[in-house]
Amino acid sequence: MAPERAVARVDLGAIQRNCSRLRAGLSGGAELCAVVKADGYGHGAVPSAKAALAGGATWLATATAPEAAELRRAGMEARLLVMGALTHQDLDLAIEVDADIVAWTKELTDAAATRAGGREPVRVHVKYDTGMGRLGTADETEARELIARIAGDERLEFAGLMTHFATADERGDDHFPAQLDRFRPLADHVRAEHPGAVVHAANSAGTLREPAAHFDLVRCGVAVYGLDPFQEDPAAHGLEPALALESYVAAVKRFEPGASAGYGRSWRASEPTWVGVLPIGYGDGWRRSLSNNSRALIAGRSYPVVGTVSMDNVTVDLGPDTGAAVGDQAVLIGAQGGERILSEEVARAIGTINYEVTCALTPRVRREHV
Ligand SMILES: Cc1ncc(COP(=O)(O)O)c(C=O)c1O
Repeated sequence: MAPERAVARVDLGAIQRNCSRLRAGLSGGAELCAVVKADGYGHGAVPSAKAALAGGATWLATATAPEAAELRRAGMEARLLVMGALTHQDLDLAIEVDADIVAWTKELTDAAATRAGGREPVRVHVKYDTGMGRLGTADETEARELIARIAGDERLEFAGLMTHFATADERGDDHFPAQLDRFRPLADHVRAEHPGAVVHAANSAGTLREPAAHFDLVRCGVAVYGLDPFQEDPAAHGLEPALALESYVAAVKRFEPGASAGYGRSWRASEPTWVGVLPIGYGDGWRRSLSNNSRALIAGRSYPVVGTVSMDNVTVDLGPDTGAAVGDQAVLIGAQGGERILSEEVARAIGTINYEVTCALTPRVRREHV
């Protein structure tokens, strides 16, 4: 394979299989909504969405209206949910591309009704904040009133009731079951009174953790891409990481003891060694906090990233008797030989979560979908 400066190889087969597995684990006929916001968590929204649909997802979700419009432009006809807050301009776009929207105030539902503009009925999901403390109404009475208001307005369709969990990824906590308990009475009401509406609550962690949270639909993001919502090993849930981040060895140079690599001289050789330069850096989303704090796989072996990560380069200690050479492929996330670096490992090294590692990859990293 010809060396390439920075490429994120995305295995669409893995996304498809992850969706099949998630879907096979759903209880009570629940459907799978693949969350493809933020450019599919950095994996590419359109190809990821196609793979997810091929794997059995029947809905797609985005955070924003332009993200929904991108999917429609690419010819995707699946049911589409825009989950985020909408300005009036965003609302017009969401309606124009026939996406479902989320509301939690009568101002929002009224705006949707008056802006329907011949595309009635606009499908609206009511968001009930059962303990996330973010978007949604935390007042059950207000949620019921909103549902009745939407159902009574012929320009709108009451399409769903939703909530979102704050701690689904913290096994054993008591907030998750408390949120579920809080959601259930309104969910039961909707199922009894509005059988056409879908009830949905679970993200990836909630889906993997609690079948009782599946309701009619689960909204899985991170697991679709083979990332573990619990920040451990995705294989434990039968998930395959879809993304590999690769660069190559652009230069190899001899370092004598005391010689330093990179800005600020944050690493110095303690013995004679060889240092390799990979032309990838924080300008590509390989974060500066990974300086002296990460590794790369080259020629089937694992080498420490040494020195400060700069915008366009990182340096790697190849050791005194390296087998690595200019032109070798370097894997920063993914597998090579018998070795493997998970996004979860990279995230742990810098005190973040795998979501942020893949979302951080900038447009300068070419996405190759295989
Ligand atoms: C409302 C909502 N539902 C579902 C998801 C998907 O979550 P996850 O990627 O943890 O599956 C998100 C993502 O943050 C979200 O904001």
